[in-house]
Amino acid sequence: MKKVITYGTCDLFHYGHLEILRRARAMGDYLVVAVSTDEFNWEQKQKRSVYPYAHRAAIVEAIEFVDEVIPENTWEQKIEDARQHDIDVFVMGSDWAGTFDDLKQYCEVVYLPRTEGISSTDVKLDVKENH
Ligand code: CTP
Repeated sequence: MKKVITYGTCDLFHYGHLEILRRARAMGDYLVVAVSTDEFNWEQKQKRSVYPYAHRAAIVEAIEFVDEVIPENTWEQKIEDARQHDIDVFVMGSDWAGTFDDLKQYCEVVYLPRTEGISSTDVKLDVKENH
């Protein structure tokens, strides 16, 4: 069985999230999604998510292409995740191109093109300014 992993905050779950999960799952037979915890988001990415981790994780887990959700607590956990979950392919959006190439020692690393015209940040701004 070919196992794929991807990482994300997935706040205000949107079409770009759905598309990356669909394409990531299509690269194998089993998709693990590591959803960033609230602490990791705030302390490491200086981002405060609108939805708490438990809600974001529950939404991602309900997506039909997703087989398993785990928490993302640190930048460094990726090697251990790849080992523990027996991962064959690591997938991220192209905004991260090149960032995680060190993982190529452990699995295939693929950066997929982002879905254009949407992001959680854009949704927050749009709601604030236009609704
Ligand atoms: N992603 C994507 N297309 C988009 C938005 C996100 O392919 N339009 C991908 C990212 O490249 C990443 C994953 O979805 O691999 C999770 O991204 P995340 O940071 O949760 O979403 P963003 O909408 O980019 O969030 P933010 O605006 O807070 O950066």
